[in-house]
Amino acid sequence: MGKILATGGMGYIGSHTVIELINRGYEVEILDNLFNSKVEVLDKIEKIAGKKPVFHQVDMTDAEGVEKVFAEGNFDAVIHFAGLKAVAESVKKPLEYYETNIGGTINILKSMKSHNVKKIIFSSSATVYGEPPASGILDETLPTGRTISNPYGRTKYMIEEILKDFSVSNPDFEITILRYFNPVGNHESGLIGEDPNGIPNNLMPIIMKVSKGEIAELNVYGDDYDTRDGTCIRDYIHVVDLAKGHILALEKSKQGVSVFNLGTGTGTSVLEMVNAFEKASGEKLPYKIAPRRPGDLAMLCANPSKAERELGWKAEHVVEDAMRDTIKYLRNA
Ligand code: WQD
Repeated sequence: MGKILATGGMGYIGSHTVIELINRGYEVEILDNLFNSKVEVLDKIEKIAGKKPVFHQVDMTDAEGVEKVFAEGNFDAVIHFAGLKAVAESVKKPLEYYETNIGGTINILKSMKSHNVKKIIFSSSATVYGEPPASGILDETLPTGRTISNPYGRTKYMIEEILKDFSVSNPDFEITILRYFNPVGNHESGLIGEDPNGIPNNLMPIIMKVSKGEIAELNVYGDDYDTRDGTCIRDYIHVVDLAKGHILALEKSKQGVSVFNLGTGTGTSVLEMVNAFEKASGEKLPYKIAPRRPGDLAMLCANPSKAERELGWKAEHVVEDAMRDTIKYLRNA
């Protein structure tokens, strides 16, 4: 099946994908600086998947450290998750985001080239689309990069452009860009889950902290949007579905650059997420309606038909499954 290097493989999406890779018979090594993850995840991966990946605690901005991993690795492909991903933080620290996300990716690509590793799956984001069309439904033919509202999103867009340029100069490389919508949930064992270091930005980790009493109440950022209940609608995709999408992308990889949305195609509002969490936990979740968050858009949903058509991939879980698994993780933690 081959040997895969998962950069950022100790993180939320990375660790779930590493488990699916091991389940499929791949040999996996992880390169991660543990900035937004914990070393304990390695033992949890072993407990779930029965194998402990080789772990390199390396920052991808350390070109020598990256080169050493590739020199010894003999990899068949890279799945590139590593990167800073907090939207609000990126506004305050743009240089750190450009240096890490773009500089680090260039180091990865240079080492791939020098060691003939010709297959990469890149963890991108729906944020590269910027402002959506009036429908709020995004497909891969839409333009990217024009109206992105933050440095984090721009790093994802710029890396996609770098990959396209790299492909022109290296036509034998197989490059797949996966644009995630809103990942939620966790492995059914409840042993691993979204557990960001520091103050989270995203809805689900904040709901989890409110549920644990670490945050007093959830601020629902605006209930005056033009949506069915006035709160923003997003395409929440179960992280295990997302992980399985990477396996199919790896196995259907081809020369040139391929781009796929990974979303469910179904939208859920903030209040519907709160209600779904309450139903799964059996407890009320304290929240209040707060002012809109700058930059938020009323509705963002994937058109996932290209991944279904070309990868044979379709999300199998629904929001209720993600809430059930999240509760299990909370009760396990
Ligand atoms: C979802 C909805 C908020 C927190 C971001 C990035 C995107 C991707 C996913 C990496 C919005 C509302 C949130 C809270 C709330 N990340 N909300 N109260 O903004 O859709 O996308 O994360 O690739 O790039 O932009 O996700 O989870 O921050 O917000 O009401 O305390 O929940 O207004 O409508 P978002 P989110």
